[in-house]
Amino acid sequence: MQTIRGFRDILPEQTRLWQKVENLAFELFEAFGYREIRIPVLEKTQLFARSIGEATDIVEKEMYTFADRKGDKLTLRPEATASICRAYIQHKMHASDPVRKFYMTGPMFRRERPQKGRYRQFYQIDAEVFGIASALVDCELIFLQHELFKRLGLTGLSAHINSLGCPECRPDFTGSLLDFLGEKKHALCDICQRRMTKNPMRILDCKAQTCQAALAGAPATVDHLCPACEDHFNTVKSTLQKQKVDFFIDKSLVRGLDYYTRTAWEIQTTSLGAQSAVAGGGRYDGLVKELGGPDTPAIGFAIGFDRLVEVMEQLEQIPEEPGPDLFIVALGEPAMEAAYHLSCDLNRSGFQAVTDFRGKSLKALMKRADKLNASHVLIAGQTEMAENQMILRNMATREQVSISMDHLVPELKKILQTDNG
Ligand code: HAM
Repeated sequence: MQTIRGFRDILPEQTRLWQKVENLAFELFEAFGYREIRIPVLEKTQLFARSIGEATDIVEKEMYTFADRKGDKLTLRPEATASICRAYIQHKMHASDPVRKFYMTGPMFRRERPQKGRYRQFYQIDAEVFGIASALVDCELIFLQHELFKRLGLTGLSAHINSLGCPECRPDFTGSLLDFLGEKKHALCDICQRRMTKNPMRILDCKAQTCQAALAGAPATVDHLCPACEDHFNTVKSTLQKQKVDFFIDKSLVRGLDYYTRTAWEIQTTSLGAQSAVAGGGRYDGLVKELGGPDTPAIGFAIGFDRLVEVMEQLEQIPEEPGPDLFIVALGEPAMEAAYHLSCDLNRSGFQAVTDFRGKSLKALMKRADKLNASHVLIAGQTEMAENQMILRNMATREQVSISMDHLVPELKKILQTDNG
């Protein structure tokens, strides 16, 4: 049996790096007042269709949707923002405190063509803020991503930032884009020709060469912002500049989800082959209301966890696997039983003690202790057991001491504590 296409296992050799990222990210988010939220992987299809947009690639062709036994249409979440908005409204969080800051991590599902850095089950680290309209929150989120990547030692990433305007100024922009594309309509790919009626802004994001050529000199959202959106964007830019967070204005950045208003951004890398986004985010001031909640400004981002880890692996930032404090070499049944109790006792006291119950030889078990990179080995052979003692070997200094089994646990604790500093 094999995993299905686009789905994969993440093995213990890899999870150490995932844990390192998670720990750093959560610590950073918590320090800025974000709290963890856990949401289901399955939701009503309508939630995603209404939030992400009927005419997006995700909703049109990438969702895992099925009818359950009662015929309800359900979808495996392709992203987290819609579900977090649903939770914010469902639990009336706005009533007790409209300002909420969340983070989460977990799997998302999109039926895309699998390739390096692109999977059908992939993971995101997500952060969302509700109830604050200030552009300073946009900066806080961009800063958080920037800071996390810095703490992880990542280099060569670039932040692409754009403003997509709001319902006030968007119609003016789409009008002038459609005017511009009027005569060039036939030069556009089939998908973009359809987008002209359904979702014209998405044409800006098309990678097809013919569309790219037709778009040369096309109007940009940033040139059609209303005064309030312009002010907002200016604050974002000047604040990030003051903080020395590098970014550049990417007028063609529109993002693949329809809920965005004002600031939108992506953190891109070229180290995964073609230019690809390691993270993306933006403001979505209309979504909470659209889903039936009160008018609430909101903004967030998601980091592509798989891609982030792949970039880190390329930089060889794989943390060294720490070995256990103790490996117990137990020879014979009575010694194995004693080793079992001892490992439980030591683990209870906060030491990592590992043993092996396969009944292997001294040589094989010493080899295993080496492989596991144990700092100490406790040898419980038949002779030692008969003499009511065990031998402790410090693997770094090769020093050996005999310890009486009568006060084994306190003696071991004392030595391990001293040796481990
Ligand atoms: P998104 O740009 O669709 O945004 O996804 C965010 C990140 O998830 C991408 O930049 C990419 O790194 C990663 N990603 C997306 N699809 C795949 C895939 N098939 N395989 C591997 N990685 C992938 C969102 O999902 C928004 N919910 C972000 C957001 C939060 N906006 C506001 N709040």
